[in-house]
Amino acid sequence: MQRIFSGIQPTGVPHLGNYLGAIRNWVSLQDGHECLFCLVDLHAITVWQEPSLLREQTRLQAAVLIAAGIDPDRHILFNQSAVSAHARLAWIFNCISRIGWLNRMTQFKDKAGRDREAVSSGLYVYPNLMAADILTYHATRVPVGDDQRQHLELANDIAQKFNHDYEVAFFPAIEALVPPGAARVMSLRDGTRKMSKSDPSEQSRITLVDDADAVAQKLRRAKTDPAPLPDTVEGLADRPEARNLVEIYSALAGTTPGQVLAEHGGSGFGPFKEALTAIVVAAVSPIANETRRLLDDTTHLDQVLRGGAERANAIAEPIVAAAERIVGF
Ligand code: ADP
Ligand code: NA
Repeated sequence: MQRIFSGIQPTGVPHLGNYLGAIRNWVSLQDGHECLFCLVDLHAITVWQEPSLLREQTRLQAAVLIAAGIDPDRHILFNQSAVSAHARLAWIFNCISRIGWLNRMTQFKDKAGRDREAVSSGLYVYPNLMAADILTYHATRVPVGDDQRQHLELANDIAQKFNHDYEVAFFPAIEALVPPGAARVMSLRDGTRKMSKSDPSEQSRITLVDDADAVAQKLRRAKTDPAPLPDTVEGLADRPEARNLVEIYSALAGTTPGQVLAEHGGSGFGPFKEALTAIVVAAVSPIANETRRLLDDTTHLDQVLRGGAERANAIAEPIVAAAERIVGF
């Protein structure tokens, strides 16, 4: 059985982009794979996190994943900082990875913005840690949104260079599993930026704990242009906001954008947004309700995470110890 590693940052509340680009895919991959689901708190602190909020959001994230269908008994759900192998292998990878490789990472450019000198050095080496997250378990498949493709290529480059430099066949090749359709969900306020937990505007995203009223309100206010919906996908060119809503619809309805437009083309955004609201609420409400229920018993959640960390550690420890021997430690 192939081993899968998936990570999500315990910052902010997970949103529809996380769901369609990642979580939903993770749930279905549980059949036929051995899965590790990691709340990546080491990645989270590459930008400032209020300590008590970080702890709270780690629990929230765990609850949302379980509510969405992740099974912590059959698979492993844990937080990254509880398994020291990640940080140890990441240090080795800092010494394998090249500055030139990191300089090509577009996510760093996006996240650092204009003040590139003022961000943490952790943010810069983030992709090296991500490579370590995966390779600490010799995982071979990583389900990610389209935004993470470049980081996975870098992880493969690091694994290959390690194998080459130390003349070993130690780290396996990693395959990115990018789900088809809505692999990149865009902001509701700006169709050219991805929906993200770190966007300061709450209106930019639908979270997985939003109630029906919040979903309806955010979709009503979602940015659109004045023209009605086109009849074909070609008509979505240069209309990123319209395209985004159509893609969200089709991803949740299990159809294609073409089929959505065959049904809704020619309609104004008013009625289309109402239909979209019904579909989004049907997906989000059960997750939101179950999350609230799980958060009532934080002792149980903490227990689940501790158990997950023990099982993750049992896999990681011998692999990282072997990597350290290879390096000469
Ligand atoms: P965020 O960027 O919101 O902080 P994370 O970095 O924690 O999200 O990403 C967690 C997972 O969700 C990753 O697999 C990532 O590819 C996916 N993801 C994040 N944002 C989106 C999006 N807007 N559309 C599709 N997938 C996304
Ligand atoms: Na991301």
